[in-house]
Amino acid sequence: DGTDHSNRPLIHLTPDKGWMNDPNGLWYDAKDELWHAYYQYYPEVAHWGRPLAWGHSVSSDLTIWNDTGVAIRPHRNDSGAYSGSMVIDYNNTSGFFNGSVDPRQRVIAMWTFDSPGSETQHISYSVDGGYTFIDYEQNPVLDINESNFRDPKVTWHEETSKWIVTIAHSQKFEILIYSSPDMKDWTLESSFSHSGFLAFQYECPGLVKVPVVKASNNDYVPANLTYPNSTTYNSSYFNTTFSQGDELEEAWVMFLSVNPGGPLGGSVNEYFIGDFNGTHFTPFTPQTRFVDFGKDFYAFQTFFNTPNGKDVIGLAWASNWQYCEAVPTRSWRSSMSIARNFTIQEYAPNPESVELNLNSMPVYDRESLIANQSRITTHNRTLEKNSAIHLNLSNNGTGVFDFNLTWSLNSSVYTNSDVAEFSLYLIGSDNSEEYLRIGYEGNSGAFFLDRGHSDVDFVSRNPFFTDKLSTYLEPYETLENGLNSYKVYGIVDRNLIELFFNDGSEAMTNLFFFSDGNYINEVDIRTSIDHCYNIEELSIQQLGI
Ligand code: FRU
Repeated sequence: DGTDHSNRPLIHLTPDKGWMNDPNGLWYDAKDELWHAYYQYYPEVAHWGRPLAWGHSVSSDLTIWNDTGVAIRPHRNDSGAYSGSMVIDYNNTSGFFNGSVDPRQRVIAMWTFDSPGSETQHISYSVDGGYTFIDYEQNPVLDINESNFRDPKVTWHEETSKWIVTIAHSQKFEILIYSSPDMKDWTLESSFSHSGFLAFQYECPGLVKVPVVKASNNDYVPANLTYPNSTTYNSSYFNTTFSQGDELEEAWVMFLSVNPGGPLGGSVNEYFIGDFNGTHFTPFTPQTRFVDFGKDFYAFQTFFNTPNGKDVIGLAWASNWQYCEAVPTRSWRSSMSIARNFTIQEYAPNPESVELNLNSMPVYDRESLIANQSRITTHNRTLEKNSAIHLNLSNNGTGVFDFNLTWSLNSSVYTNSDVAEFSLYLIGSDNSEEYLRIGYEGNSGAFFLDRGHSDVDFVSRNPFFTDKLSTYLEPYETLENGLNSYKVYGIVDRNLIELFFNDGSEAMTNLFFFSDGNYINEVDIRTSIDHCYNIEELSIQQLGI
């Protein structure tokens, strides 16, 4: 049909044509059981441009997305409906809804109207379940005479019965927190500023309550460490809210995107775990951490409402401002990450203290994608330098698969000056010069990914498309033979690879580009050191729709 698919992902949200960046207005419709995702959208060409609108896509399973057209447009052509969020106004606090709109579909969007020299906050509401929106006549609802004041993410604060919005005062490194009874009148409550990794500017903040999952077994505790035998906090670490013996059921997480100037270059998403009392956010420590250690995970946002009302599910834009407009797709650009479910996990870096980590695992309907698709497994294979393990996926590959890989490390067989690595070469079906290499190196304790052998032309032309990326890994558990094991779950969807380590304690999202129709269908496993690694398990499941 003449459409350029350029290895368009199958199970990730992409725009039908044109340009996409940040996810916006994510909400779950409990009436029609539909996930709604909006996004920064310039339909004309596959570059960012004005007028910038909100595109809209819906999904019943967070797996297959259906485009439903533009939902919000700015009223001037020289301007943009910049990023923002949606809430469900069940109790009609705004007065926008009459009895004919089901309470579960009373959605209000809050977004930034960006015009030359000015950024103000607007609201719009929908009376047709989120497909079209009516602008509030008295917009803007917030104007502080600033040109870098954007990306409102609204949440409902149960205890004070108020709407709470976090807005980035970008180049002042401030997140401004406002409250409102009705989404229209906003009162400034506090500012959370100069925290974490500042980079050049703050964007897309978001505050959400996340459940704390007790480590009921050793799964989330590094193998060589002991978890305290109670689930109480006994550390001075919790400097504000908690005293000895308190138990934590849930905590507030402040998400924050910073760009440019992330540690890997360009865009990065960080988070703080802390408490929110309805007016102020207080992080438990000033420390920040990254939501994802890859190069293509930005502007993360959570869904307002989830089916059980408690889960925290969200997704991010899977690209990076450094090269997003140059990547080798043509008629469309960018995809979202797979949706992820977030929990806070306790772990014990030493027996005296408990630390908290934000874990994430993917949420999608895997079962619906495995019918008639091939699967390869291998287990308990000790790797040797001179004999690679070769695995083949089916010939008519879809370019989409997931895998579980667990390996153990025998660190007694190498010295500090060795490069003690093993690698999976994920090789293209039509052109074996295009491959992705992932693996682990014992001396650095890090998992690595090399995407430098994907579309070589693009990689060599673009100085920012970092080829080698890595993340340090804690062991997952100690095996009976005393060796430490490590674990990764990966999803590959044509030109996107998402890795989840040790049941989600770390994630890493990266784009790669093979030439059109060249899909991964071979896996070679190689090592640089004899008898150092044992593949405890590798299973690869091809996926298709
Ligand atoms: C983040 C961002 C937002 C802004 C939007 C514009 O990627 O720069 O701060 O609202 O993109 O498209």
